[in-house]
Amino acid sequence: MSNLASAHTAATAPRSGISAWPDVDALYRRFAELVAQPMRPIRADAMPQVMRYFDEKCSGSRRLAEQAKAVIPGGVQHNLAFNHPFPLAVVQAEGAHLTDIDGNRYIDFLQAGGPTLLGSNHPAVRQKVHELIDRCGPVTGLLHEYEVKLAELVCRHMPGVEMLRLLGSGTEAVMGAVRLARTYTRRKWIIKVGGAYHGWSDQLVYGMRLPNTGRMEATGIPRGATGHTQECLPNDLDALRRTLRLNRLRGGTAAVLLEPLGPESGTRPVHPGYNRQVRALCDEFGALLIFDEVVTGFRVGMGGAQAYFGVTPDITVLGKCLTGGYPMAGAIGGRKDIMMALVGGIGTTSRRAFVGGTLSANPLSCVAGYHALQEADRSNAAVVAGRAGDRLRAGLDEIIQRRKLPYVAYNMGSIVHLQTAGVLLLDTSSLWKLLKVKDEARRRKHMMEEMGAAYTAHGLVTLAGSRIYTSLADTDDVIDDALNRFDDVFALV
Ligand SMILES: Cc1ncc(COP(=O)(O)O)c(C=O)c1O
Repeated sequence: MSNLASAHTAATAPRSGISAWPDVDALYRRFAELVAQPMRPIRADAMPQVMRYFDEKCSGSRRLAEQAKAVIPGGVQHNLAFNHPFPLAVVQAEGAHLTDIDGNRYIDFLQAGGPTLLGSNHPAVRQKVHELIDRCGPVTGLLHEYEVKLAELVCRHMPGVEMLRLLGSGTEAVMGAVRLARTYTRRKWIIKVGGAYHGWSDQLVYGMRLPNTGRMEATGIPRGATGHTQECLPNDLDALRRTLRLNRLRGGTAAVLLEPLGPESGTRPVHPGYNRQVRALCDEFGALLIFDEVVTGFRVGMGGAQAYFGVTPDITVLGKCLTGGYPMAGAIGGRKDIMMALVGGIGTTSRRAFVGGTLSANPLSCVAGYHALQEADRSNAAVVAGRAGDRLRAGLDEIIQRRKLPYVAYNMGSIVHLQTAGVLLLDTSSLWKLLKVKDEARRRKHMMEEMGAAYTAHGLVTLAGSRIYTSLADTDDVIDDALNRFDDVFALV
């Protein structure tokens, strides 16, 4: 850890949204039990009742979804959007709730896929955005004071961030971080942890969602583009060491890239000492450590997962909460000597990793990010949302046990996982196992879609039916209301 990083950590004693790290070994045992058993979907005789909700209450959404199909591929533009039986058309988002075009109200646990830690459309941010738009409009292409304010704020809170470069999205920022690591180290290999999602750039649609799946989803991507991307199974430090050692014989590893809670926002959680051990391996082999904190940045606490684990990465990737749910959420942060290879501007002649973006670092994104993060800090949003996550998980546990279901609920603060179908937990650790689970995965995916539809019909919007983001807006009443609804859904199993 650099001197500056340790000073950061002491000055901003991390107020973490994670009250306790789950018992990882116990969870993996329960995952294995869940996927070894026959599925427990919504009963066939209860499904018509679920689907009746969409027929009777969602005619406006259905109409718009039909219209969308003519001009939008599949009628859906978000990979996390629920589209079974059709996507909901939302007209209002406020705090913990969404209202659809037909006037139905939902508890919003999708939270736009993570960025709205304050809840939707927080007035403190909205007002500042309005003021900026009235004065300056959304973009000029020149320097704006909010760029500097946002960068200063992030540098103050994130232990591993001494400088910040803003980009358009998490995908862009990961892409830039990889290029930066290669520029700085003059090496090529990138090792990621299998199953993690790092956006959709050519080089990282590799080992996505399910570990060990390599190029399974790399349609339209030439082999060369993923030719220097490798994956190791989560928690497998021996495999990581072997890969680092192998790479040393052929030019060396530029970086190890990981999601610090574990792949897919902790869907497969890491052991609490894992990140520290990866840090040590990176130091031993001269590789940079990149934390993808697109989800965890600010949601786990103002210092991200790096402050929680007390492990300082060389490069940090940010997104989502960085701009409080407003457009253009992406940034690369890191050690100054590394970050200086991202110098921008026309007159630059130094050897640099080229990144850019017409709308990157626009005043609109920066004002929204600055005030959203100020408000998150002031209101202790990560801790409040984390407590809501704890309450929800405890309630889900009680329902699951009372109803004797094999489901698994666990949380890292405001990131709550609810595994019913276990589709992302299938064992893909060998080629043979991978081939074996292909059909099983399809069936379990269908079950997840039906669970998702049942949640929606009971007024609960989740992320892909298996993840729940809580926010500052989730009071005890909201969580208790949600638990009653989950209980009603599980009564249909
Ligand atoms: C861990 C992680 N990294 C990167 C990304 C990509 O970010 P974006 O969707 O802003 O491109 C995501 C998006 O969900 C993510 O979860």
